[in-house]
Amino acid sequence: MASPDTDVSDLVDSLSLDEKCSLVRGAADPEGTATGYVPGVPRLDIPEFRLADGPLGIRIPGRSSTAFPASIAVASTFDPELARRQGVAMAREAKASGQHAVLGPGLNLIRVPNCGRNFEYYAEDPVVTADFAAAVVEGIQSEDVLATPKHYVANNQETKRLVVSAEVGERALRELYLPGFEAAVEAGAGSVMTAYNRVNGTHMSDHRRLVTEVLKDEWGFDGYVVSDWFGTESAVGAATAGLDLEMPGISLEALHEAFGLDPDAEMLEEGDDESIPAGETTTPRFATELKSAVESGAVPADRLDDMVARILGQMARIGLLDGDWGDGGALDTPDHRDLAETLAARGTVLLKNDDGSLPLSDDADVALVGPGVAEAMLGGGGSSEVTPAREVSALEGIRARTDGSVAFEPGVERVVTPSFFDDGPADGDDHADDFPGGKTPDIDAAADCAREADVAVVVVRDATTEGADRETLRLPGEQDELVAAVADAAARTVVVVQSGGPVELPWRDSVDAIVESWYPGQADGDALASVLYGDADPSGRLPVTFAPEDSYPTAAEERFPGVGEEAQYDEGVFVGYRHFDAADADDEPTYPFGHGLSYATFEYGDAEVRGDDAVAVEVTNASDRDGREVVQAYVRPPAVAGVERPMRELAGYAAVEVAAGETETVELSLSEHAFRRYDDSEGWTVDAGEYVVEVGRSSRDVRAETTVSR
Ligand code: GLC
Repeated sequence: MASPDTDVSDLVDSLSLDEKCSLVRGAADPEGTATGYVPGVPRLDIPEFRLADGPLGIRIPGRSSTAFPASIAVASTFDPELARRQGVAMAREAKASGQHAVLGPGLNLIRVPNCGRNFEYYAEDPVVTADFAAAVVEGIQSEDVLATPKHYVANNQETKRLVVSAEVGERALRELYLPGFEAAVEAGAGSVMTAYNRVNGTHMSDHRRLVTEVLKDEWGFDGYVVSDWFGTESAVGAATAGLDLEMPGISLEALHEAFGLDPDAEMLEEGDDESIPAGETTTPRFATELKSAVESGAVPADRLDDMVARILGQMARIGLLDGDWGDGGALDTPDHRDLAETLAARGTVLLKNDDGSLPLSDDADVALVGPGVAEAMLGGGGSSEVTPAREVSALEGIRARTDGSVAFEPGVERVVTPSFFDDGPADGDDHADDFPGGKTPDIDAAADCAREADVAVVVVRDATTEGADRETLRLPGEQDELVAAVADAAARTVVVVQSGGPVELPWRDSVDAIVESWYPGQADGDALASVLYGDADPSGRLPVTFAPEDSYPTAAEERFPGVGEEAQYDEGVFVGYRHFDAADADDEPTYPFGHGLSYATFEYGDAEVRGDDAVAVEVTNASDRDGREVVQAYVRPPAVAGVERPMRELAGYAAVEVAAGETETVELSLSEHAFRRYDDSEGWTVDAGEYVVEVGRSSRDVRAETTVSR
């Protein structure tokens, strides 16, 4: 069993300098399974140590594991218990694969709608981000596997990710970008991964204030800090700033060799000519410079001892040093498959549903249209890619569920998500345009097919990836034209959007229903069918704001992607709904934070305060079908002279089942985070006064109000 707080100091003292240096950097995994590998010290019975990606499931070259939905889908459930269960399942799959640490959760705040990795993150809100990060960490660590919250911190874009400096004020750091990591540490994370980017001019691997003074000293983090891959800026700078483990610790070529990375992958943007010369980013620092730095005293010997102790301490914590690690591993179990489907279904958001177009009747004849309906939308490109043992496409899922007929037309060219790996669904695969029934992409044929059916279901998708941001929020290719043509022809049109974040929906007024299912993972078709046919009440809610692309606070170039190598975070705390709800906001969101419809109808009673940190409300399901509601509570602070605060901040929420015709009393705890603000000179401050607590279905659908005082 795990040995928490084992004293490893004697073991550290027994190690030679070379042995210590070998424990704080990666090497090539002789088995070729681990993303990150540290060889042990057999002389002292220190075993090998393996780390594997990623937030959506365990990635082992050539092997399959459960492909869970995108993290943004998991957050859309607004039910952190589901995320904890996902953490448990991923840890079990890690154990079954001989991996001691999971390189996840990814929890950077969704600041920029275009960010290529939004699918790997949770929300534009720090309370949702913190709750889900903590839940996944608790799940992973409960199985004696180490969680690795990433990427610390302010890694909110992919453009120039190796060099860009997030120029961000302390208040925004404290109120938005740090809380998720603090919650993950409080939840017991054994490690934290530093980001590639700089913060206020300093690379995160070398950022002493944020890595040592905040993460370790202020929050009491006693695990190890691991670099992102090739993300160590300097040996002395990083070691003395608080970095404990350099990954992968080997050259990019050695990594390609060991891990089947596509040598041409955009994994590591080499930056523009003037920023970093090719190859500069992939030189292992600790491997080449650390020993001499310790011998010269540039890196104090006791800092190296601390680095080693932190790594061995976590190995001891999970039972690795006393040889009884690994029980309870399990891959691709029925429970994991069921959980993947539950997460995908619960994370599906019903954005629009005119005239009860959904749920579909069992005997409806369906025209299923879209270039991707014959394959599950597993995820985005990059290190989070997972190869499942089984996957269910929308076509398979709907054909299995319906009593009606299902006709299929691709309509447009296939949209391909780039892959980092040789065995991934890479660009240009020869099956790129193979469609069932030998169909070819033809918008007119899709419109004709829709005309003949009772309802047209058009599945559209984007293609996001690590290493690149989206040029536009418009859907790739001619998908918008496809939706418009089908909507012109069909009696009823349902659009299913499979995206990694907010997208433009130019045809939204021309269609009858819109469902956002994000990247649903291996259970795609089954989860989609359960929502479309009403077996599951769509209870997903938006963890990000959908809005016109040029209305986001980061629309200005100096904010995103930045000018030169600096991105100005001068929107401060006004990110997402905090921006759109501001009194001087010019634009209305298309669909607001927290939005999502249900097939049931909910009525709210009055809100009443419970103590000074909770609120309760009665919720009645006034429909004839069981439903699930996500009750949300937002706090509106009192006005304080000279202080600009968001109009409202999410303080609490709960996903609750309410049977047809029944009433439930829902009590929500109010996070103190929604009351406090960070003052650059005073630190955390809670202004005295009356706070309005809004209770409702979304940030813009408030059903009851009350007040609490501070
Ligand atoms: C990547 C990613 C990180 C991942 C690591 C190992 O570049 O930024 O999320 O865990 O390298 O694949």
